[in-house]
Amino acid sequence: MNAGILRVENAAKVYRVSAGMFRGGLDLHAVSDVSFRVGEGEVLGLVGESGCGKTTMAKLILGLEALTRGNIFLEGRSVRKMGHREIARRVQPIFQDPYASLNPRKSIGAIISLPLRALGMGNRGEWDEKVREIMNLVGLPPRLRHNYPNQLSGGQRQRVAVARALIMRPRIVLCDEPTSALDVSVQAQILNLLIDMREAMGVTYILISHDLAVVEHLATSVAVMYLGRIVESGPAAEIFRHPLHPYTQTLLASVLTPDPRKGLPKVSLDAEYPNPIRMPPGCSFHPRCPRAQEICRSQRPEAREDGGRRVACHFPGPA
Ligand SMILES: Nc1ncnc2c1ncn2[C@@H]1O[C@H](COP(=O)(O)OP(=O)(O)OP(=O)(O)O)[C@@H](O)[C@H]1O
Ligand SMILES: [Mg+2]
Repeated sequence: MNAGILRVENAAKVYRVSAGMFRGGLDLHAVSDVSFRVGEGEVLGLVGESGCGKTTMAKLILGLEALTRGNIFLEGRSVRKMGHREIARRVQPIFQDPYASLNPRKSIGAIISLPLRALGMGNRGEWDEKVREIMNLVGLPPRLRHNYPNQLSGGQRQRVAVARALIMRPRIVLCDEPTSALDVSVQAQILNLLIDMREAMGVTYILISHDLAVVEHLATSVAVMYLGRIVESGPAAEIFRHPLHPYTQTLLASVLTPDPRKGLPKVSLDAEYPNPIRMPPGCSFHPRCPRAQEICRSQRPEAREDGGRRVACHFPGPA
C-alpha cells in the first residue's frame, strides 16, 4: 500500500446532546479514536450496525462536521486547513437515498453538472459536454438530462447520483449505503456500475454499509466499527475468511442465511446495543461478547497489528 490517499488519525467526534435534567447536556461519543488509511485505487468497506458512527465518519471526511479530536489528511493535506471547495474537489459523496439527495426542482442535467458549477470549473458549453459524456458512461441516455428526478426510476436516480459524484473526476468517492434504498434487482446493477467506474476512472472508494454482502462484493480492505471505534481491520479476503474479533465473527455469521430473500436476520447478540452516551467501561463490546473475561470489563484493548491486520480484543482468534 502507498502512503495513503486518505489518512485518518485518531479521529473523534463528540456531540453534545440535551438530556432532560442534565444542565448543559451530555456527551455522545459518535466516533472515538478512529485511525485508518486508504491507498490509491483501494475500496475500503466500512461496516457495522446502525448507530456505530459510519455516517459521522463520512461527514468528518467530507468536512460536513468538524473533528472534536484527531485529524484527517486528503492527499497529505489536513482537512482542518481546507475549505469546502478544496475538499469537494478531492472527495465526492453518494448517499443512500436518491429521492432525498436529488433536488426535485432541478433538471437531471443541472443536478449532474452542479459540482462543476459550484467549483467554477469550465464554462456552459463544457458543462453540457461533460454531462453527456458522464451520462453515457454511467448508462443513462443523455436525453434524460432535460427530465426531473420524479420522472426516473430508483435505479436511474442512483445513476444520476453516481454521475454527479464522478463528473469532476474526484480521487475519492465516498458511498454511504449506496444501494440500501434500492430494490434488490437494482442493487447489483449499481454495484457493478461502481466497479466499472473504478476501472474506467481509477477512483478510490470508501464504501459504507451495514450489509456485509455488499462489502464482500467490492471491498479490497475492510474496517469493522463498533460503538464509534474500529475493532478489526485488514485485507477484505482475510477478514471474510478468518475474522479474529468476536464481533466480526457474529456479524459474518448473521449474514450467512440460506435464503437471501428472507433478508438479513438481526445480529444474534443477546444484550441490547449499548448507548453511546453511557459507554461500557473496558472493551465496549464486552456486554455482548461470548468471550468476555474480567479484563474485558475493566481494560480497553489496544489495537494490535499483525501483518496488515489490526484487532482490538484481549482474546482475538478463530471462532
Ligand atoms: N447531529 C447529531 N447530534 C447528536 N447525535 C448524533 C448526531 N448525528 C449522529 N448522532 C449519533 O451518533 C451516533 C452515530 O450515528 P451515525 O449516524 O454516524 O451512525 P451510522 O453508523 O451511520 O448508523 P446507520 O447505519 O443507522 O446509518 C448515533 O448514536 C447517533 O444517534
Ligand atoms: Mg448512516
